[in-house]
Amino acid sequence: MAPSVLLIGASGTLGVPLVQEFIRQKSSFSRVAVLASDASKKVKFAEVEAAGIQVVVGSYLDVSSYKGFDTVVSLVGNALLKLQPAMIDQAIAAGVTQFYPSEYGADLTQKQFFAHRYFRSKLETRAHLVRRAKENPNFKYTLFMNGFFTEFAAYFVDAQKKVVTAYGSPEALTSLTSIKDITRMVVQSLLLPYMTGQKREIHVSGSWQTFKELMDTLARVQGVSYSYEFRDPAEMLEKQIEAWLQDDEDKEYQWALMTLAASGGAKVSEKVDNELFGFVPETVGETFVQLFAKQAAE
Ligand SMILES: NC(=O)c1ccc[n+]([C@@H]2O[C@H](COP(=O)([O-])OP(=O)(O)OC[C@H]3O[C@@H](n4cnc5c(N)ncnc54)[C@H](OP(=O)(O)O)[C@@H]3O)[C@@H](O)[C@H]2O)c1
Repeated sequence: MAPSVLLIGASGTLGVPLVQEFIRQKSSFSRVAVLASDASKKVKFAEVEAAGIQVVVGSYLDVSSYKGFDTVVSLVGNALLKLQPAMIDQAIAAGVTQFYPSEYGADLTQKQFFAHRYFRSKLETRAHLVRRAKENPNFKYTLFMNGFFTEFAAYFVDAQKKVVTAYGSPEALTSLTSIKDITRMVVQSLLLPYMTGQKREIHVSGSWQTFKELMDTLARVQGVSYSYEFRDPAEMLEKQIEAWLQDDEDKEYQWALMTLAASGGAKVSEKVDNELFGFVPETVGETFVQLFAKQAAE
């Protein structure tokens, strides 16, 4: 039977293009809906509702929000990652049998991430999924990992000063996938069978580049030249601690994120699952060419 899917966090950076991809592939699903966590948020989904996506108004933490769906795809952002274990409990109680936690990044089994601030809630969510799957033999989950979003590379650039600032090493190897390809693969993956029990890992990567190669590709496509400043990630740890002492969780996440791209950890398994999908993902250069052509046209 065609899956019925509820998307949580559908108005965010990844959520918006993912919903557009669901609209394109809607005929493969019996039902696709987005969760609006209160009635005032319903309005931001008016266009997708007109395109055939249902809007469920309800709390992330209320069992009734999840009723009538077999699959939940979470796309929640930093502030809500810690709610995912409670969301999983409500989803299971409502009869959901498949859950995609908000991952969409690196392979978190790398030792350097065991105590990394950015991944604290993601790792707790993984542990919760393990526990709940043991208790519920019909419950399955997918960890979808795509490395770094290619489009985010410009985040490290001071466009005025033409300087790239990063915390780590120019030689840090990075897996890179475009947001467009990630959304296509996530939606297609929902239609693929589980081959390995209740837990499924999917690793995809459009390109592998060192951080310096990535920035050189960006500069080449933009027709500019950048100078580079590589700083010690320990500086960012100090800033995270400062933010923690000031009860500023958003800043804690922000500083923790700064250490990822040039850390050597922003990567997926070397054995990727790209062949599961019926297309070849874009290279970094191709994504940048499209991105800047689109920005120039806007
Ligand atoms: N690999 C990479 O390079 C990369 C880059 C960016 C993100 N990611 C990952 O992708 C996933 C989604 O990230 P994102 O950047 O798309 O998230 P986001 O835009 O920050 O937030 C996604 C959604 O979560 C809900 N939300 C977030 N913060 C909230 C708050 N403070 N209060 C209420 N609702 C809030 C909102 O959804 P509703 O209002 O619709 O409920 C929001 O649209 C995360 O797991 C993130 O780590 C990976």
